[in-house]
Amino acid sequence: MAAIETVGLSKRYGNTLAVDGLSLTVAESTVFGFLGPNGAGKSTTMRMLLGLIRPTAGHASIFGHDCRTLAARQAGLVGAMVEEPALYTYLPARTNLELLCRLSGRGKDQIEWALEKVGLTDTGDKPYGAFSHGMKQRLGIAAALLPKPKLLILDEPASGLDPAGLIEVRDLVRGLAAEGIAVVLSSHLLNEVQQICTHVGLMFKGKLVAEGPVDELLSAEHTDLSIEADAPARVVEVLKAEGIVVEAVIDATVIAKATREQAPAINAALVAAGVKVYAMVPHMPTLEDLYLRHARLRTHS
Ligand SMILES: Nc1ncnc2c1ncn2[C@@H]1O[C@H](COP(=O)(O)OP(=O)(O)O)[C@@H](O)[C@H]1O
Ligand SMILES: [Mg+2]
Repeated sequence: MAAIETVGLSKRYGNTLAVDGLSLTVAESTVFGFLGPNGAGKSTTMRMLLGLIRPTAGHASIFGHDCRTLAARQAGLVGAMVEEPALYTYLPARTNLELLCRLSGRGKDQIEWALEKVGLTDTGDKPYGAFSHGMKQRLGIAAALLPKPKLLILDEPASGLDPAGLIEVRDLVRGLAAEGIAVVLSSHLLNEVQQICTHVGLMFKGKLVAEGPVDELLSAEHTDLSIEADAPARVVEVLKAEGIVVEAVIDATVIAKATREQAPAINAALVAAGVKVYAMVPHMPTLEDLYLRHARLRTHS
């Protein structure tokens, strides 16, 4: 059964269609990243999934439970960090988690497990207020893990983190995924998402404009090959003879419309033509390329 299924999910605020007909399936054991600029509708989507706000139209379910009911949350199937966690700054991390367990009527047996998962076992007795931003994020994730959920929803878990904090959260999410917990997160950090997520959904103005496994989405993106050689004019001639399109010539570098796989044959042809090749660098597509292409499509339409 899918961790998340939405059909035509929409949310309107006055004249703003914050989420516009979102149809999406997130399979179990995937790490799904919502990408998009500020105001794209990522947080609104997550709030609807968690039953915190009601959809204007459409339907969403978590492990088959309608999101308008709180059944999935009550059954402990889903944990979430959608806002700054509301924790007491003067109380130790552990005590904060104990309070959360008491408030939700849950036993305390997951506390040590959750602290261990986020790497805070040894710092659990420090007051929350003395935590670094990265530690606070991790404690927020520990709080979300208390029901031992099969799905974790994290809104901007990487926001405001320094490089060390980013690595901590990245390792943590990967570790949870390795245990079979599906993770849905939002971010505007494209590189971060590319490193953590197996699947992404790209949102612009409430609409899902691209969605799928990261490698599949990227394999459809444009690749090119930069060739640095002693005689760029000769490189252009050889490439034309090989039927390869030249995109640009910048100083001694020729940019060809070709893939990494074509590089050895191109190199052989250049060497046979007496060209000295100093470097051949394939440009592998990134989520940034995908994002920028969609962003451009939207500004020109
Ligand atoms: N409670 C609200 N009342 C009115 N407008 C809202 C509310 N929440 C979000 N919006 C609007 O909905 C759109 C999507 O917002 P949001 O889901 O927060 O985007 P994101 O998380 O992708 O940055 C924005 O235009 C935002 O201003
Ligand atoms: Mg948001």
